[in-house]
Amino acid sequence: MTITTCIFDAYGTLFDVSSAARAAAAEPGREALAKVWPILSENWRRKQLEYTWLRAVMGAHCDFWQVTQDGLDWAMEAAGLSDTTLRDRLLQLYRELAAYPEVSGVLSALKARGLATAILSNGSPAMLADAARSAGIVSLLDDMLSVESVGVFKPHTRVYALVTERFSCRPDEILFVSSNGWDAAGAAAFGFVTAWVNRAGLPMDRLPARPHYILTDLTPIPDLVSS
Ligand code: LAC
Repeated sequence: MTITTCIFDAYGTLFDVSSAARAAAAEPGREALAKVWPILSENWRRKQLEYTWLRAVMGAHCDFWQVTQDGLDWAMEAAGLSDTTLRDRLLQLYRELAAYPEVSGVLSALKARGLATAILSNGSPAMLADAARSAGIVSLLDDMLSVESVGVFKPHTRVYALVTERFSCRPDEILFVSSNGWDAAGAAAFGFVTAWVNRAGLPMDRLPARPHYILTDLTPIPDLVSS
């Protein structure tokens, strides 16, 4: 089956989630953060994701902006940081995360080849709109699909079904791209052709489905869909 549509996870795949803490740590007067930003950033992301899974199991959905704040509060307390100005700054930077350098070129190449492109993300519609606008990629995307339409986080199958409903296609016409191993596994289990962007060189997640492709960044995607 030919791939007609390329769907991207947002956070960690198109947008560099560590860029918020890294940028804040480089600002004047941020000596306390500069000492701990890598572990703060890692804990922030880990707790943010854990809260999505836990809330899904608990049937206690809230939007991704709430779990992003809750994860940051946990990570700041763990790092011994309680500065509310710093908290506000980190959250502001999270709304305008840096895109990985290859993102615009890859999306442009996919559009030039006639493929549909979209985001499928845990992010709330407002978060995704901010991130895509600040990265300058709005015109390169046909849509930005948010889990808020179904009220449960990834990797619930209802989330992946948003794509086949929106593009009126079969799962095997979709190339789904994520840097999150568990998200790539969820998408592969749903029936998408899946590429895991393993930027960090992590081991494969031991889950019931595995990605079809393993990449180190997004650059090979246009050739992958043409082959
Ligand atoms: C997302 C998270 C999983 O964008 O990175 O959906």
